[in-house]
Amino acid sequence: MMPLNRRQLLAGTAMAAATPLASPAQSTGAPKNIIIASANGLECCAKAMQMVKAGRDTLDAVVAGVNIVELDPKDNSVGYGGLPNEEGVVELDASVMHGPTRRAGSVAAIRGIKTPSNIAKLVMEQTDHVMLVGEGATRFAKAMGYKEEDLLTEESRLAWLVWKRMLKNPSGHSNWSDGLDAPPAKPGAKPSAALQRLFPNASADTLAWAEWMALHPTTGTINCLALNSKGEMSGCTTTSGLAWKIPGRVGDSPVIGAGLYVDQEVGGAGSTGRGEENIRVAGAHSIVELMRAGRSPQEAVMEVMKRIARNYDNDLARLAKFDINFYALRKDGVFAGGSLWSGTQRRDGSFTSQQFAVNDGGASRLENCVHLYERK
Ligand code: GLY
Repeated sequence: MMPLNRRQLLAGTAMAAATPLASPAQSTGAPKNIIIASANGLECCAKAMQMVKAGRDTLDAVVAGVNIVELDPKDNSVGYGGLPNEEGVVELDASVMHGPTRRAGSVAAIRGIKTPSNIAKLVMEQTDHVMLVGEGATRFAKAMGYKEEDLLTEESRLAWLVWKRMLKNPSGHSNWSDGLDAPPAKPGAKPSAALQRLFPNASADTLAWAEWMALHPTTGTINCLALNSKGEMSGCTTTSGLAWKIPGRVGDSPVIGAGLYVDQEVGGAGSTGRGEENIRVAGAHSIVELMRAGRSPQEAVMEVMKRIARNYDNDLARLAKFDINFYALRKDGVFAGGSLWSGTQRRDGSFTSQQFAVNDGGASRLENCVHLYERK
């Protein structure tokens, strides 16, 4: 083949630029105002819908929505009150994507800032970078006027101390439990019992919760996706990540293409749950590309879930050790939530269905996820 000359090369570049990326997703109708989120996002969806209806930008809407959860000390998987790393320090991850401008921003392992979603948005808007991590992210947040604060609540500090008391060497000793010289503990005493003096206001239920969290480290998170009637889409994912993680561990939430991806010519997707599994399948990007190729949101979500199961050779015993959820919203407003397992175990031993939050203009509601496996 003859080599191309400079003029032919330039013409080729121009042609490539004018060529559509791929066939558009098969959509059936005009866009409409829809907000979806993970199950902890009922209020988030309502706030985002209120803003979208008022004509506000879809990214402003999702960030305002997730801010409610980031600032809620009772949600131990996101923002202020999130469970800390193994050293008792809360480290947060967040990402945003803005469909109309095709821009993205994220922060990872940021400390001391209650609303990392705002900082991810500032990285997008105020820098030439996409991702800031660790100390650099905190310094950037402070430069942008954010106050550094202690994100550990009394409840999350209690849960962390209970977890430390449970870490034992092979002979059953923990440096963080009563000393060898302490009077013998009452037979069957729980690891939290000795902490009652440090936390005099902690109820029996809070102590039981702390023990449960010590044994079942959470990877809860919030993902929120918004579509407006003009066809504009944005998304945000924010989390405190895996409880008791090694300092510096980064999950999927701030990884563009894993915890979040938006291409408003097709749709958006996001995830909650064990981020390590999602990163290995680039979940959100894979879902959007499957929708671009014509799969429905539900088909796309389940196809990616099957890739996660395949990574474990469909070994149910190992897959049973974690939960992961995906959420997908197509440009015409068709949406789906999908989970690996039908439900998750509560502290009382019962199971609760995997669900996700939706607001299509009225009150926010929960809908069931489609699932790959039935948890019995
Ligand atoms: N999906 C949240 C995390 O794994 O950090």
